[in-house]
Amino acid sequence: MADQTYDLVVIGAGAAGMMCAATAGQRGRRVLIIDHATRLAEKIRISGGGRCNFTNRRVGPENYLSRNPHFVRSALSRFTARDFIDLVEHHGVRYHERSWGQLFCDDSAQQIIDLLRAECDDGKVNWLTPAEVRQVAATPDAADRYQIETNRGRFAAHSLVVATGGLSIPKIGASPFGYRLAEQFQLPIVPPRPALVPLTLPPETLARLAPLAGASLDVEASCNDGRFREAVLLTHRGLSGPVILQVSSYWQAQAYKADDNARWAPVSLNLLPDLDTAEWLLEHAGSRGLLANLLAEHLPRRFAHAWCELHGWTRPLNQFRHAELRQIAAHLANWELVPSGTQGYAKAEVTLGGVDTRALSSKTMEAKDKPGLYFIGEVMDVTGHLGGYNFQWAWSSGHVAGEFA
Ligand code: FDA
Repeated sequence: MADQTYDLVVIGAGAAGMMCAATAGQRGRRVLIIDHATRLAEKIRISGGGRCNFTNRRVGPENYLSRNPHFVRSALSRFTARDFIDLVEHHGVRYHERSWGQLFCDDSAQQIIDLLRAECDDGKVNWLTPAEVRQVAATPDAADRYQIETNRGRFAAHSLVVATGGLSIPKIGASPFGYRLAEQFQLPIVPPRPALVPLTLPPETLARLAPLAGASLDVEASCNDGRFREAVLLTHRGLSGPVILQVSSYWQAQAYKADDNARWAPVSLNLLPDLDTAEWLLEHAGSRGLLANLLAEHLPRRFAHAWCELHGWTRPLNQFRHAELRQIAAHLANWELVPSGTQGYAKAEVTLGGVDTRALSSKTMEAKDKPGLYFIGEVMDVTGHLGGYNFQWAWSSGHVAGEFA
């Protein structure tokens, strides 16, 4: 026998779970939200360097990876970035825009947690935290079809929303709970992988690149179908910086392909994305200056010299044949490095893969074959680019589920 019955139980009080609970509660649903963490919404608190990049001015399906790329359309158009910005403004949270339309709080990510908490209070949401969910069972009875057993009592609900997120940053509460529950109800899972994550290089490449470690450059990076413009950071472990986090999701996208060799795809860096490099080098073909000194006009001086040393291109420009300069230009535009792996879930911002969206309704997030069971946020196979897109997915998917559940 359940201790209490609710219209809706949400498991996971992160970004998506709180948005869903607030929306459903404000519709008059009796909602219980459960989380095993002692501190509320830690991922929001640490996000965006403590300022939470809560959305982006431009959000579209092209900003997401999923095996089912059109899935996000409906939810993103029913609860838009503008809708979340309205909420932020309504709560008096001051914010600012950074590059590429990214919106951050002026003061603290805690303000977004407080906003969600206040919205939940408006919806009279009931809280059970910290609590451990031990078992979930489904019964045919339509009134309380889901039975949730926790270490703090048994609960029954007409609908169950799973909002337990992905696997990144296990030390602040990430767990595979959502995947296990999906499997329990025979929903397919796209294999999860760390994404938006620094990439490692093999030891022999690291040894060769050691003189370049510490360099930060504005580049265009591409891998498989992903191409982005931002900073790369060469580290003593491999490649990092925002542009690498972006392409790491595409490097990992072999999860969507049968061909596992895709895993070893190179990351290509265009070191001089604003220049017609061949034309520029040829213009200086008669110069007695060193190639490295010319490159230092557009690249950090230390990097330019170390990069030329690495390739043995240490002569003055007038000692290179035109064909050689064209070859150097091609190398500058397409410097390929083959990663050996990633820094894993401990450093990943998100998880690629998750509950296969083909088993879910794109309108409501409800499992097609399991009435009343919903999956929202990062636990699903929907992964946003860096730039506020993952939170926007949490808000959009959470909101639409809250409208129906
Ligand atoms: P989320 O992870 O927020 O919440 C899941 C909740 O479920 C947690 O409260 C957890 O404790 C709970 N839970 C897990 N297992 C459970 C279990 N077994 N029982 C009960 N509860 C359980 N995105 C973005 O758009 N802009 C940004 O600035 C950033 N910055 C950023 C920085 C860092 C360091 C990280 C790690 C991530 C980001 N992200 C981001 C990504 C963003 O944080 C993430 O995509 C969303 O928080 C996902 O929201 P969810 O609600 O789906 O999961």
